Amino acid sequence: MENAELFWERHYRTRRTWDAHVNPLLAETATPLPPGAALDLGCGAGGDTIWLARRGWHVTAVDISTTAVEQVRERARELGFADRVATEQHDLSRSFPDGEFDLISAQYFQTPFPLLRDQVLRTAARALRPGGLLLIVDHGSTAPWSWNQDPDIHFPTPTEIAAELDLDPERWPVLRADMPHRLATGPAGETATVIDNVLIVQRTAGTE
Ligand SMILES: C[S@@+](CC[C@H](N)C(=O)[O-])C[C@H]1O[C@@H](n2cnc3c(N)ncnc32)[C@H](O)[C@@H]1O
Repeated sequence: MENAELFWERHYRTRRTWDAHVNPLLAETATPLPPGAALDLGCGAGGDTIWLARRGWHVTAVDISTTAVEQVRERARELGFADRVATEQHDLSRSFPDGEFDLISAQYFQTPFPLLRDQVLRTAARALRPGGLLLIVDHGSTAPWSWNQDPDIHFPTPTEIAAELDLDPERWPVLRADMPHRLATGPAGETATVIDNVLIVQRTAGTE
């Protein structure tokens, strides 16, 4: 069986990424915030990274796919945001970028391969600056065009995700845990209503 890196490399080598759009829940969450330092976990085609950089954020964009992070770096350079976008290739199960962040976003950080996701997201919570937000958005339903059409799939609810993270609620209180619906557009322009599972925790001011 191929490994995760090869799988995602092939995905990004065969996909046109220049039209990547921002994820709606990232835009909704970040719009009221003052620009600061952001970390985009599993940045993929970089729609969120570019959106944040355009608004003055300094973004570290991380993905297991070297092709993905190279494309994001190139796109940032072409758009004139090279000074606000740092790209790093990591298998986040093995390594995590240095730094502290005001916003850490994990948008659909899901993969068909084993991933120590809870460990990665706990590390992310610890990398927040006081007052910083960790935004986790997962699929809560299967879109008709998704690669995963397993009828028995269980998407962890936001409450289950929070329980798995097992963060001290005094230091990382939950600001949002819900499952909004949205109209999504597939690769061929088709539309369908999908569910997102959303969890936001905030690192309280003054914690170490
Ligand atoms: C479902 S895609 C989501 C991409 C992007 N965040 C978006 O919203 O379009 C999952 C992303 O996680 C990345 N990924 C999967 N496993 C990873 C790992 N172990 N370490 C780092 N990135 C990983 C993939 O390469 C892919 O870009």
